Amino acid sequence: MRHPHHSSPPVLAGAVSPIKTVPADIPRPDYAESGVPQVTAPDDLKKDIDTVERMRLAGSAARRVLRKVANEISPGVTTDYLDQVCHQACIEEGGYPSPLNYNGYPKSLCTSINEIICHGIPDDRPLREGDIINCDVTIFLDGVHGDHSETFAVGNIDQPSTDLIRITRECLYLGIGAVRAGGFVNEIGKAIQTHAEAAGFGVVREFIGHGVGEVFHHLPNIPHYYEPSARFEFASGMTFTIEPMITIGSPSANLWEDGWTAATSDLSRTAQFEHTILVRDDGVEILTLEDNEPQPFLASGGGADWPQTISTGTKNSQE
Ligand code: MF3
Ligand code: CO
Ligand code: CO
Repeated sequence: MRHPHHSSPPVLAGAVSPIKTVPADIPRPDYAESGVPQVTAPDDLKKDIDTVERMRLAGSAARRVLRKVANEISPGVTTDYLDQVCHQACIEEGGYPSPLNYNGYPKSLCTSINEIICHGIPDDRPLREGDIINCDVTIFLDGVHGDHSETFAVGNIDQPSTDLIRITRECLYLGIGAVRAGGFVNEIGKAIQTHAEAAGFGVVREFIGHGVGEVFHHLPNIPHYYEPSARFEFASGMTFTIEPMITIGSPSANLWEDGWTAATSDLSRTAQFEHTILVRDDGVEILTLEDNEPQPFLASGGGADWPQTISTGTKNSQE
């Protein structure tokens, strides 16, 4: 039997290292000890200016942490090591790595390789030349979460994987470009699905974007596919993620026995990019950027290009 989408052997579960601790002086979210989130969605989804300002700082911290993680990506490096880098970098920012014990999740970072759609658990598997890996960082800093991810190439990757990563990144920014105060949430999925399918790719439906702030995941739901009935209306001050997961083959997901890792049902490759964003009267602000990066979706941004992707390390490269 031939498997046309497989450009590498399936990802297998590895050994997961012991749970890490966070220094006691770092403020932690309500689920850190019990594993169960207590606070639920706020009634008013519009954040006040104080919360927005804290989210800017959490967002830029998430971006810096992701840069540090990405800089370590190289063939031979384990995802457990990337998790360790993320964990330490969050602490150095004065924050708590939001995934740690969130509904019992055992690590500080999500590492999703090749056919893994999302929520891959870091383990002792070394990265291999030709892999693609999504690293998803969330930091809880000064009482709010900043949620950000990109997909990276490990060394040289094949052409379908290169195309998949490019299209997925474009889907994120086209999705952000579809957001406006007074607009509907379904305009995001429409833009994303149109672009993905024009490239021959699929859109995952089982995992969606989400409101974020003092609570890690709250309303509204942000589908990345076109859902005509999703007529939630955006208003200035709302903060949420857009995080499309795009597939070369089947977009349907299979959950591993660990209860977290989601793989494509046909083991074809998948990629994801994620930003946390803020709806404003003058456009959309990407919160998971650093201050010196352009804001292409603000009137004041003057039509800047989309933000640059984070670059990976060059440790084991031949140059
Ligand atoms: N960062 C992921 C998201 O984009 C959520 C990870 S939750 C975890 O929503 F428990 F899996 F870490
Ligand atoms: Co998210
Ligand atoms: Co995320």
